Amino acid sequence: MQTQSLWEHTLTFFPQFLATLKEHASPDATVAVVGASDGKFVLPLAAAGYRVIAIERDPLALHGGEVHLPGDISAHAMGLIDRLKIEELQDRVQVLEEDFLQVEPLDMLCDAVWTSCSWHYSANHHCPLAEFVTRMQLLVRGGGLFGAEFMMPVEPRHHMIEHYTSPEKLSRHFTSDWRVLLTLRTGEFTERAHLGQLRDHTHRMGLLFAARTPNISHLYGKKD
Ligand SMILES: C[S@@+](CC[C@H](N)C(=O)[O-])C[C@H]1O[C@@H](n2cnc3c(N)ncnc32)[C@H](O)[C@@H]1O
Repeated sequence: MQTQSLWEHTLTFFPQFLATLKEHASPDATVAVVGASDGKFVLPLAAAGYRVIAIERDPLALHGGEVHLPGDISAHAMGLIDRLKIEELQDRVQVLEEDFLQVEPLDMLCDAVWTSCSWHYSANHHCPLAEFVTRMQLLVRGGGLFGAEFMMPVEPRHHMIEHYTSPEKLSRHFTSDWRVLLTLRTGEFTERAHLGQLRDHTHRMGLLFAARTPNISHLYGKKD
């Protein structure tokens, strides 16, 4: 790639998601990325041949602009849209500049949905975590894949906010028509300063992959 995400160096389990996606979906499957930011995951998915629906509420992440970086550095950051043009991937990606909690239901189901450390943002705290998770689940077709990595509580204040969750608590949102494939939690680790967190800081992350039960009603001549 000629361009780089501002989030390039933060810890992610996206390679595991990509490997699971290859097992569950066709090479030209459609993947929704919720909280797409400047494309750390959108670009590799599109470059791998997937169609991507990128949902992001922050205009700076999409269109670029001045950002404040560690070391008291101000710089012009490229947004997702310019990165897609430079990498010639824009034809594979539909960008929705919207708050995911407000977005109208898509008129299609996706083969997979992925989010990375998005729902703990304070702008989402007015809404129960269950709504964020249910909205993601509703994007996924029968047989499709759900993947989320998320912040777990570290500081005392995090324990008061349900959006800092755990794999165990999150698993409770995956009932009869879902099969949880993988959960994982890290210990506390130090992440180097980055956009939005200008000092080195401590995180703990969780991961959950789940597959939606294939819809077999058509085999019995029933309508959905
Ligand atoms: C931590 S950042 C993305 C960083 C990500 N870990 C990565 O490496 O690219 C999470 C993104 O989710 C977005 N986000 C959070 N809540 C959202 C919502 N309700 N609708 C759309 N985007 C949202 C934020 O604006 C932010 O760009």
